[in-house]
Order: sequence, then structure tokens, then C-alpha cells
Amino acid sequence: MTSYYRELLAAEAIARRAGKHILRERDLQVRVSLKGPRDLVTNVDRSTEVLIKELLSDAFPDDGILGEEYGNEDGHGQRRWLIDPIDGTQNFAHDVPLFCVSIALQVQGTSVVGVIYDPCRDELFSAATGIGARQDGKPLSTSSCADLSESLLVTGFPTRQDQAFEITLRQFDRLTRRGRGIRRLGSAALDLAYVAAGRLDAFWEYGLNPWDTGAGYLIVTEAGGVVTDVTGSPFSVDSPSILASNGLLHSDLLDLLRSSH
Ligand code: IPD
Ligand code: CA
Ligand code: CA
Repeated sequence: MTSYYRELLAAEAIARRAGKHILRERDLQVRVSLKGPRDLVTNVDRSTEVLIKELLSDAFPDDGILGEEYGNEDGHGQRRWLIDPIDGTQNFAHDVPLFCVSIALQVQGTSVVGVIYDPCRDELFSAATGIGARQDGKPLSTSSCADLSESLLVTGFPTRQDQAFEITLRQFDRLTRRGRGIRRLGSAALDLAYVAAGRLDAFWEYGLNPWDTGAGYLIVTEAGGVVTDVTGSPFSVDSPSILASNGLLHSDLLDLLRSSH
């Protein structure tokens, strides 16, 4: 099996540098603009993506890159980096300290390296295929909760108030009566990192993009969890939905989520 240790270390170092950049810029000036009615972007999202792209291109000049703010740049092979410079932009713009940098390396559409860095807590979650998942060097594993009534779940709502938005509201209603609680953190990448760390038992959401989930789904899987879409089909970053859990709650959650459609 190919080892992606060099790429993992490089992505970890780049995510930390990006995190420092975000905090420094936050203390200078944050200019917020709208991409859509409820979809924010800031000058810091943009400058952070530029920084990450420069550092990745220096280290891996042949690789392609897909970033949220500047789109796709083809590479020369089957490798592509996915970048979300700030996941949780709405929190960042409102000065809520719940956001992160997410960087993944995909080979032929499958993540082989994933790094999520929360600069506010200085927490780094990462994984590479075959190497396992870790948080700041310590192995990560998903929770052991097997009973939905004891679970703490997390979700997010699509930015557009479409059909998936209505379905999520119904699912929220249903699951909030069944579990111990549901959180809405506002950062899909941190949601996934927290499932990998066993802090939360499962996460589901519709309509995410490859840069939101590329790192997190690998970290959850390598931490022993299970990731599918909400119908139970295999997950890819192009899937229309995601359900990531500790595995033990997966089939109960699939039943409940499906029945709210
Ligand atoms: C958003 C966050 C949020 C999720 C949205 C995403 P952004 O990403 O992950 O939790 O609910 O669907 O778009 O815009 O902050 O990078
Ligand atoms: Ca995002
Ligand atoms: Ca973003």
C-alpha cells in the first residue's frame, strides 16, 4: 500500500500556517460579502486559500487543486487536493470561534489524506489511509454509544431553503425527540472531526461540497466510524448527503432519516 506520510505531514504543517494566518487577519480587518442570500465570504477566506494553494503547489507541483473560493486547477496525474480555507465562515464573520481549515488529498476520487485544524483551540485532527486517525499525535476513535437515547448528534442546514432544508427540519424534529440532544455547530468539517474524536456520536447533512467533507470523512473512517449517504449508499465527496457515525448507531439512524423523507 502506498504511504502518504509525507503528504500528511505537509498538509498538517500547511493547515497550521493557514490557521495562524486566519487569526492574524481576524485581528486586522475582516470584510464580509455575500455569495448568496445566506452564503457569506470574507477577504480572509480568499487570502487563506491563496496561501494554502501556494504552499501546496510548492510542495507538490504536479497535483491538481480544488478550492472553495478559486475553483479547480488541473494537475498532471490522478491526485487532487481539496481545500476549504475556512469551514464555518458564518461563525468566523460573526466572531464565533467555531471554524477550521480543511485540507484533503484525493487519489482517483478517494481521500487518502485529511487534515482539519481548529486555530481557536489549536486542535489538529488528521488521518491518512492505512496510518489511522489522530488528534495532535494521539490516536482517535469514535464513541462507543450504541443507544440512540444516549446519543449526542450534530447536523447542518442547507444554505438554500429547498427540499433538503425541509427534510432536515423534519429529521431534526424526529431525532431531537429520540436522542440526548442535537448540536448545530456551523462547520461540517468540525462536525466530522468531533465524530471521529468520539465527542459526538453522529453527523448528517445534505448538499455539502467536496471541500467540506473530503478530509472529515476519511478521519471518521480511519477512527473506526462508518460514513455513507443518508440512504445507506457508499459515500463519495460528490454524494448529495452524508451520514457519519460511530458505526453502532448507523442502521438506527438510517431508518429514522429515511422515514422522514
Ligand atoms: C458551511 C459549513 C456549514 C454547513 C454549510 C457549509 P462554509 O461551509 O460547513 O456547517 O452547514 O452547508 O457550506 O461556507 O462555512 O465553508
Ligand atoms: Ca465549508
Ligand atoms: Ca469555506
